[in-house]
Amino acid sequence: MTKKPTMSVLFATPECAPWAKTGGLGEVSAGLPPALYELGIDIRVLLPGYPSVLDQANGLRRIATLPAEFGLPEAAILRGRLPTGLPALVLDCPPLYVRPGGGPYLDERGLDYADNALRFGLLSRVAARLASMDSPLGWFPDLLHCNDWTTGLAPAYLQSGLERPAPSLMVIHNLAFQGIFPLEIAPELGVPPAVVEAEGFAHWGRLSFLKAGLYYADRIVTVSPTYAQEILGEHLGCGLDELLRTRRDRLSGILNGIDTAIWDPRSDSFIDRHYDADTLEEKRANKRALQIELKLAEDDHVLLLGMVSRLTGQKGVDLVIEALPALFDRPVQVVVLGTGEDKFERSLRDAEGRWPTRMATVIGFDETLAHRIEAAADAFLMPSLFEPCGLNQMYSQRYGTPPIVRATGGLVDSVGDFSPEGLRDGSSTGFVFTDPTATALLETIDRVLATWSDPHAWQQLCLNGMARDFSWGASARAYIKLYEELCKRGEIEAVEAGASRG
Ligand code: ADP
Ligand code: GLC
Repeated sequence: MTKKPTMSVLFATPECAPWAKTGGLGEVSAGLPPALYELGIDIRVLLPGYPSVLDQANGLRRIATLPAEFGLPEAAILRGRLPTGLPALVLDCPPLYVRPGGGPYLDERGLDYADNALRFGLLSRVAARLASMDSPLGWFPDLLHCNDWTTGLAPAYLQSGLERPAPSLMVIHNLAFQGIFPLEIAPELGVPPAVVEAEGFAHWGRLSFLKAGLYYADRIVTVSPTYAQEILGEHLGCGLDELLRTRRDRLSGILNGIDTAIWDPRSDSFIDRHYDADTLEEKRANKRALQIELKLAEDDHVLLLGMVSRLTGQKGVDLVIEALPALFDRPVQVVVLGTGEDKFERSLRDAEGRWPTRMATVIGFDETLAHRIEAAADAFLMPSLFEPCGLNQMYSQRYGTPPIVRATGGLVDSVGDFSPEGLRDGSSTGFVFTDPTATALLETIDRVLATWSDPHAWQQLCLNGMARDFSWGASARAYIKLYEELCKRGEIEAVEAGASRG
């Protein structure tokens, strides 16, 4: 890109693939900034220096030291380049981020780090400093783009004494994770408890990082339009619906994109046989390869259902587990790859023991297998109880693997339910059901089986999904529109403030 950047943005995130990824946010942080850059935004990604980041980033160079503040330790900013070539600002603070054996949020036993308030308080604080004239970098972004609770205090810091703060955008990837800590930690974060109480970001007598972000940010974005509506209600509002309703004029949803280079059945290096819309029959070879790899019966005449997911209540894993006995009365095989709650892992392993040729359970995080499942499965299971956006349903469509999804959040916004008309006009790309029950899931799988038994209809359904464009361009353009509105508003407010002072 040779165009002069039109705007500069600091993108603060707790994870960015491939250096740090626990789920969709890591992928979004890797995919959205390059798409924004392509459209002329000077964007830099700020993320903590976990061991996986320090190990994988080449040529990191210290460009600033940030003194200790409040109860937060001294830190440094290291400049490097992400694999996409974009500038990365790595927040280096070994006492907080170098925890061998653990992940970004959890230790090796799967427990939250006891000092997560300080770990992500520092990330928030530094994000805010770098988005103000108090930045030591000599680069002043026009806007701060925050992601989830881990950056939630940044919009609050921006409005508490930093010089010439940039406007902020708070993106909610998952309202269920809020970063709630005892109020006593507030002074260590430089936030007086009285402010927490008075300004409304206390949550049942505790400090909520996300609530602070939602309270102070200039704009709030969720990762799909439907989720933006759903969180205004009590059911999915996670206790924050009242605040969100007061800010609904600042709230909107932008559907995520996916990395169409990494997720491309024509060139995916993890899969056995490449294919595209003209060679869809090659999928069969991938199905057979996976059946062999996972020791399932080698059978073309069973419907192979894939699932790749965190194994938590959010993802509807319990519906799948409950449906399994009845499912195996039908010509179906199931492959599940995931990690998460013990009870789900145990039930899924037990199911594999009970139906060894019909069910494969792989507990762990395995990028390669995730791709192989997308390429091999006939259909993909994603019966989430709620889903702010979800990425796998989009990968599935790209891989000619119609997704079976619940009608919630981003699943509504990215999957078209099967109907004869939809098949013809291209809008049907999968199967959508509403009731969060195993019965509704089973009824839907019966619909899937009926369609699958008609090869012509099935092929058309796959092709409809493969024809969809889920690349990042559309999302990036929608974010830029918001950025522009925000910056314009910031300029007007600055002029008005100047006029009233004068
Ligand atoms: P969430 O972020 O809520 O977990 P998303 O659908 O946005 O859900 O993103 C999850 C991403 O993580 C997907 O790309 C999915 O393939 C990947 N993923 C989840 N669990 C695993 C796993 N066990 N192994 C490999 N990839 C996984
Ligand atoms: C969260 C949500 C998921 C979304 C992802 C990326 O993890 O649970 O639905 O796709 O963030 O935005």
